[in-house]
Amino acid sequence: MRTVLKGMRAVFDGYTLRSGLDVAVEFGKVVEIGENLKGDEYVILEGKVLYPALVDAHTHLIYAGDRVFELKMRLTGASYLDILKEGGGIRSTVRATVEASDEELISSTLKRIEELKRRGVGAVEIKTGYGISYEQEIRLLKLIHEVSIKTDVIVVPTLLFHVPPEDGDVKGYLKEFFERYEEYAHLIKFVDVFADEGAFGPEETEMILSFYKSKGVPCRLHADEFKPFASRLAAKYGCVSADHLIHTTEENVKALAEAGVMATLCPVTGFFLREGFAPYDLLKEYGVRVALSSDHNPGTAPFLNPFITVLLAVFGYGMTPGEAFAAHTSAAADSLLLNKVGRIEPGSRALMFAMDYTPDELVYRGKVDAVVDFVEL
Ligand code: NIG
Ligand code: FE
Repeated sequence: MRTVLKGMRAVFDGYTLRSGLDVAVEFGKVVEIGENLKGDEYVILEGKVLYPALVDAHTHLIYAGDRVFELKMRLTGASYLDILKEGGGIRSTVRATVEASDEELISSTLKRIEELKRRGVGAVEIKTGYGISYEQEIRLLKLIHEVSIKTDVIVVPTLLFHVPPEDGDVKGYLKEFFERYEEYAHLIKFVDVFADEGAFGPEETEMILSFYKSKGVPCRLHADEFKPFASRLAAKYGCVSADHLIHTTEENVKALAEAGVMATLCPVTGFFLREGFAPYDLLKEYGVRVALSSDHNPGTAPFLNPFITVLLAVFGYGMTPGEAFAAHTSAAADSLLLNKVGRIEPGSRALMFAMDYTPDELVYRGKVDAVVDFVEL
């Protein structure tokens, strides 16, 4: 059965906005894009703009509790790293997460996914990182798997080395993950490290990257969010992506470009922490490919709306709205090694939504509440 989508004002194909085109779909796949296409049946999307599903390439969606109280502390002078050093921040979410039941974690994570889906997200990466013991991190991986079965949004699981254990035995902590790798290998697609001040240092990060690289697991890094050392390691170990980069340097950007590492930027985080925005102009100048993500987490990015991410990317980085949508669709999909989503082209999965606005119109009107209709075929 060949279904043709017709009547759209424009199609954003994951790269640019195109007008006057129909899209033909067969067996869940896009098979053709062109003018006046014929089909066995037609879906008329009169006056709408068609988009590929958005992809959220960096999230910490599985956790319990919130950190509303921390916002006040930060606004009255405490820094994010001060709060973390004093045993709050990530560690307070770890306490809440470890105490929460499996059911609670599954249902709150599913609710967050639904909220992202309401604004067009069709694929989402989810990191562990609020367990901080071998058992608790593996529990989170298993729960992410349960969540993935219960939603039609594509879920990409990442094992995140978030902060060292409180007893300070980093070597022992890593050793257990390395020795028992075969037990959880089937539950992860990526490994990530929060490689920064207050989290994992360069030496520990290299131990993690070299181990998982030897196992063929693709890696990504929380890099240069506060102190700029990790993106050089992302380049050295050929990570798929270096994320955040708020405080990166020209030298680091050059290293990323030379190694072909993507940058997955999280504009909500810099805005929410009042730390500023990654140097998008520099990344563009050196030819680093940029993806966008929510970084949703309870401490630095509690929003659940990809249109807010797009808006901040435009006004914070100076991206065009079209660039921001490309970064949140095709580039974000590539950052997760998902090459059949985040675009509308022959061979891609027919995971698409229609809405009233072009990228320019959505940003111009600040329509972060835009209604999105997934195309059901
Ligand atoms: O991406 N920086 C490390 N991880 C998160 C924050 C997690 C938290 O504060 O709970 C981030 O910003
Ligand atoms: Fe993050």
